[in-house]
Amino acid sequence: MYRTHTCGQLRLTDVNATVTLAGWVQTVRKFGSITFVDLRDRYGITQLLFSENLNAALEANPLGREFVLQVTGTVNERSSKNANIPTGEIEIVVTEFKILNKSAVPPFSIQDDTDGGDELRMKYRYLDLRRNIVKKNLELRYAVGRSTRNYLHENNFMDIETPFLIKSTPEGARDFVVPSRMNAGQFYALPQSPQTFKQLLMVSGYDRYYQIVKCFRDEDLRADRQPEFTQIDCEMCFVEQEDILQMFEGLVKRIFKDVKSIDYTDTVQRITWEEAMWQYGNDKPDIRFDIKICNIKFPQHTFPSKQSQSALIDGANFGVFDDAETVVAIAIPNCSEYTRKQTDELTEWVKRPQIGMKGLVFIKCNADGTFKSSVDKFYSEEKLKAIAEAANAKAGDLILILAGTEERTRKATSDLRMYMADKLGLRKKDEFKLLWVLDFPLFEFALEDQDGGGAGRWVARHHPFTSPKPSDVETMINNSPKVENLDKYLEHPYANIKANAYDMVLNGNEIGGGSIRIFQKELQQKMFAALGMNEEEQQHKFGFLLGAFEYGAPPHGGLAFGFDRLCAILGGSETIRDFIAFPKNNSGRDVMIDAPSTIDTKQFEELQIKLDLK
Ligand code: AMO
Repeated sequence: MYRTHTCGQLRLTDVNATVTLAGWVQTVRKFGSITFVDLRDRYGITQLLFSENLNAALEANPLGREFVLQVTGTVNERSSKNANIPTGEIEIVVTEFKILNKSAVPPFSIQDDTDGGDELRMKYRYLDLRRNIVKKNLELRYAVGRSTRNYLHENNFMDIETPFLIKSTPEGARDFVVPSRMNAGQFYALPQSPQTFKQLLMVSGYDRYYQIVKCFRDEDLRADRQPEFTQIDCEMCFVEQEDILQMFEGLVKRIFKDVKSIDYTDTVQRITWEEAMWQYGNDKPDIRFDIKICNIKFPQHTFPSKQSQSALIDGANFGVFDDAETVVAIAIPNCSEYTRKQTDELTEWVKRPQIGMKGLVFIKCNADGTFKSSVDKFYSEEKLKAIAEAANAKAGDLILILAGTEERTRKATSDLRMYMADKLGLRKKDEFKLLWVLDFPLFEFALEDQDGGGAGRWVARHHPFTSPKPSDVETMINNSPKVENLDKYLEHPYANIKANAYDMVLNGNEIGGGSIRIFQKELQQKMFAALGMNEEEQQHKFGFLLGAFEYGAPPHGGLAFGFDRLCAILGGSETIRDFIAFPKNNSGRDVMIDAPSTIDTKQFEELQIKLDLK
């Protein structure tokens, strides 16, 4: 037997027991003739005391960091206790020890505040995973998975595996492809999600499906994106949107309870996509803080149902506002006393290439009711007051105004909103606010190529299986998808078609998304056609699904959560890498196993592929 207890187990109640432990050497400290060793395993750390009588043995078999050690000894009450660890009141007085394996000197220290940089830790990820902080993240991930499985099982969901070697499933990214040896010249695609399979399972009558499953997407990577990531993928039939929203906010609330001991009793707020863009400039707003934006000027087709307020700024001969497509203000609470240096710093911030604005206008709403702005030359105090009222600003607030093209200005305002909230400490890690964003547009216009399918065409904003709102079906059927003038694509009727699609947002992150699906063959064909697929292409890519829809497809819908993202946010981070045992770096590389890498000539021969890199 290698061990009787773990390194996190022993307490004062075990004093005088004879025990055997096994683990890794965290530290070795010599005090005169006595040696103290901290022994670590998955469960904790236990202090070992080697008395003088073991010195000769220690000299013959010196211990080093990360050596694998087995010790037998007696549990003893410590004279100087360590209140920071659960085993801190005891130590093991070692009688025998055995080095089970030696270790090279680790390239970085195995502790929470390690000296190892990112790349080094990824190269030696198996050592990084020994660190408590990383282990905690993986434990949290496991707890989220367990809670999910329990909830879904209790609600009659069935876990069904779907294949990885498949045909393309469009989710807006490029596919990873795998050549087939047995079918030379042909390729599988790895699933961007199990979307079509889960829909087929609905046709087969498995009315509640789920899977915690790997998905593969060849897209640009960010802190919240990995090329292979995990989804909690779900589908239900005979449901309406409301059933799905209820079921899955139930899941997230259950996870909060099981994993964080949080009773999330608040009603999950809901907002339409259009309102989210209007109020926050963003379709995944962080609603932990109540700062909304004020749209002074905007192109009418962006918000057909909203009124312009450009009278507030018109007639002042201020070119920056007059020439801008969009002017947006945002009132930041209690910042009217910002110094010149602070407002300059904000101006520099919005001018950074990532934000891309030309400048920033500010209005200070002084505590005494007066106003001071960077545009005093153009606007009277009365005008400034009117803008402040429109922006819902109170005395003591600082109004920041951005002007420019619609898309960029809206995004910049949203980024500025988050930046200021971070600055003011309004995004608290231990506060969680869920939000459903509903009624997304069905289409998006790809001015640039997004997924290898070409530019200047409509693409499905969610995916091509998402149903349009019943009231918009006619618009889709009766209008040609052709866009004559690329600059005016927003004026095309397709731009305003809404989908039965929803996203769940947690603290400003999209943690899940889904839709009610198209389940009639004809409408699905229409959708494919709108996306520019002719009949032959439809058959080639999705003949199996169109075929299945001929055999009694039930109404169905579902969603998928980004499992890694959910774990990261619950763990107080937005970097999903920290919650994945073996993640890839930002270039999609696993630097530990050195993948991707070249393959043998023989493998190319077997695949009958000749490499001819451009
Ligand atoms: P969607 O593409 O919105 O929907 O993905 C669902 C959720 O998966 C997460 N996610 C990612 N996480 C890490 N890295 C990535 N590269 C990545 N891409 C997406 C997000 C997202 O909300 N089949 C549909 C779901 C459905 O309609 O049922 C789908 O995959 O948190």
